[in-house]
Amino acid sequence: MENAVTHKELLTALEWYVDQGVCDVVLDEVVDRTVMLDLPPMRVMPATSVAPSSTPVSAVQAAARGMDVAPAFLGASDAYEEAVKCAKGATTLEELHKAIADFDGIAIKKTATNMVFADGNPKASIMLIGEAPGADEDRLGKPFAGLSGQLLNKIVGCIGLSREAEDPKNAVYLSNVLNWRPPGNRTPSPAEIEVSLPFIERHIQLVQPKIVVLWGGVAAKALLGRTEGMSRLRKSWHDYSPQTDGVGDLSISTLATYHPSYLLKTPQQKKAVWADMLMLQEKLKTL
Ligand code: URA
Repeated sequence: MENAVTHKELLTALEWYVDQGVCDVVLDEVVDRTVMLDLPPMRVMPATSVAPSSTPVSAVQAAARGMDVAPAFLGASDAYEEAVKCAKGATTLEELHKAIADFDGIAIKKTATNMVFADGNPKASIMLIGEAPGADEDRLGKPFAGLSGQLLNKIVGCIGLSREAEDPKNAVYLSNVLNWRPPGNRTPSPAEIEVSLPFIERHIQLVQPKIVVLWGGVAAKALLGRTEGMSRLRKSWHDYSPQTDGVGDLSISTLATYHPSYLLKTPQQKKAVWADMLMLQEKLKTL
């Protein structure tokens, strides 16, 4: 048969689905979305208005029966308000870790294996912030634990910085805008960034670094509240102050540069990052 799919092609397709996160469990039950096409639009009520029921039903079953349903995860604005409240309430890194772990306003928490909070020395003068955990970070529960992390270690190592250093002057502390891996390593959605921002901003306030370095466009745009690309944002110092009301009022010298995973694909930009690291080294001498 001419059009028969080969075993190898099927395996390749399967691997692609797995890589995209199609294997990740999002709900407790399998959903036949073709049935949903005939349902009236779902009316979502606040969680408190759902009548108690002796037999638990899923959101999909409830919608199919025409019942008002509480969302498994909070609606966008509720989630943001809840994130701000939880972030503000955390007064130590331990409390912030718990607040993020307990926060249910971000659906990718369900598909991730581990929460990724931070690594390195929390007393470090420099805080490095990336975009979101990838597959290795998700598996190990640590930021920048894979190939791009190895390159990051080498880059900062060239100017005498390390996540293992005890002396705060030579130490770095690392985190990400998102604490959970987006399935298939996709770019975080604007809604995911919005609900994660209060937490990373509180994280910065609790660590109180003297300098922040933002790796990649997602981190730079989110934390600097800017829309320009990296070629415009790098090469100058920015004054970072939190955008989230009530999480703190620090103003911190901040540098943005290309993400190490971009450098792995585009090594010709390594010299640009090297120039940024020299700027960082000069700044460190003034501390
Ligand atoms: N990319 C990031 O932005 N952060 C990580 O922790 C790993 C890869």
